[in-house]
Amino acid sequence: MRLKSKDVLGLEDLSVEEIELILQTAEPCKQIFTRDIKKLPTLRGKTMVNLFYEPSTRTRTSFELAGKWMSADVTNIATASSSVVKGESLKDTARTLEALGANIIVIRHQMAGAPHVIARCVKASVINAGDGMHEHPTQGLLDLFTIREHKGRIAGLKVVIVGDILHSRVAKSNIWGLTKLGAEVTVCGPPTLIPQGIERMGVEVEYNLDVALRDADVVNILRIQLERQKKGLFPTIREYSRLYGVDAKRLRIAKPDALIMHPGPATLGVEITADVAESARSVIRKQVTNGVAVRMALLYLLSGGGASSEIAG
Ligand code: CP
Repeated sequence: MRLKSKDVLGLEDLSVEEIELILQTAEPCKQIFTRDIKKLPTLRGKTMVNLFYEPSTRTRTSFELAGKWMSADVTNIATASSSVVKGESLKDTARTLEALGANIIVIRHQMAGAPHVIARCVKASVINAGDGMHEHPTQGLLDLFTIREHKGRIAGLKVVIVGDILHSRVAKSNIWGLTKLGAEVTVCGPPTLIPQGIERMGVEVEYNLDVALRDADVVNILRIQLERQKKGLFPTIREYSRLYGVDAKRLRIAKPDALIMHPGPATLGVEITADVAESARSVIRKQVTNGVAVRMALLYLLSGGGASSEIAG
C-alpha cells in the first residue's frame, strides 16, 4: 500500500489505512535512533526544502534531521532573509524552489490553506508543517504514534485536549486522527477558546476541567496562543491557570496511568506545572523524539517507498 496523494496536507484528508501505514512505517524508523551511524540511503538524490514563515524548534529541526538521516539534501529557507521580504508571492517562491530541484517542500505558514495553494502549483511533494489555525498533521501523527507506543492502542481511549482549542492546529489534527482511529475525545477550555460547532468533529465539549479529567487515559495540554489572539478572550493568565492549568493535584482526577502530553513549546506555570511536565507520566520529550521517526516515515512514503522492511534493512 502507498499514500494516495503526493502531499500530506492534513489528517482530515488521510484514510484510516493511510494513517496506519504511516504509524507502522515510523516503527522501524525509530530504531535508527539506537544506531551509532544514523544514516540510510533511502532518499539519496532527493532534495528537501524547509520553508518556514513562522518560528519553530521541534518541527523544523526534526524534518531536517529526518531528511539528513535518510540521505536527502536538505535546505532551510529563513523567510526573513529571503526574497519573500521583497514581495515574492508564495506560489512564485514554491515554483522557484522547484526550479532549484526541490522534490519535497515542507511549509509552515500563518495562513490556513497556504500549503494547499502551493501543492496545486508544483509537482514536488508538499508537507504541511502547520498552517494557521487549520492543521499540523505531522504533530497529530506523532501524537498518535506516542499514544499507541505507550497504551498499545488508540481505539476506546479517553483523550482530553485542554487549552486554547480555537487557535490550535495541533488540536484539529489530533481530533481528526484520534476520532478516525476510534478514541473518545473531549476538548476542554474557556468557552471563548472552544470553536463553536466543534462537536461536529465528533468530540465532547466540557468547560470544567475537573469534570473533563475523570477517567482520562491521555491528557494533551495546549498553550494559549497569545500571538494569534486579537482581543482578550479570558480575564487574566492567572485566572486561566487557576481554572485550566494542569497540576499534580488536579491530575489525580485522571486515571493513575494517564499519559501527559504537550506539543510544545510549553509555558510552564500557566497551562502545566513544571513537576507535571517532568513527571514519570509525561511523554513530552518522547513526543519530540517520535517526531523524527514519523517525519522519516512520511518522507520515505512520499518518495515512493512501500514495505517498511526496506527501512530497517
Ligand atoms: N509542536 C510544534 O510545532 O513545535 P515547534 O513550533 O517548535 O515546531
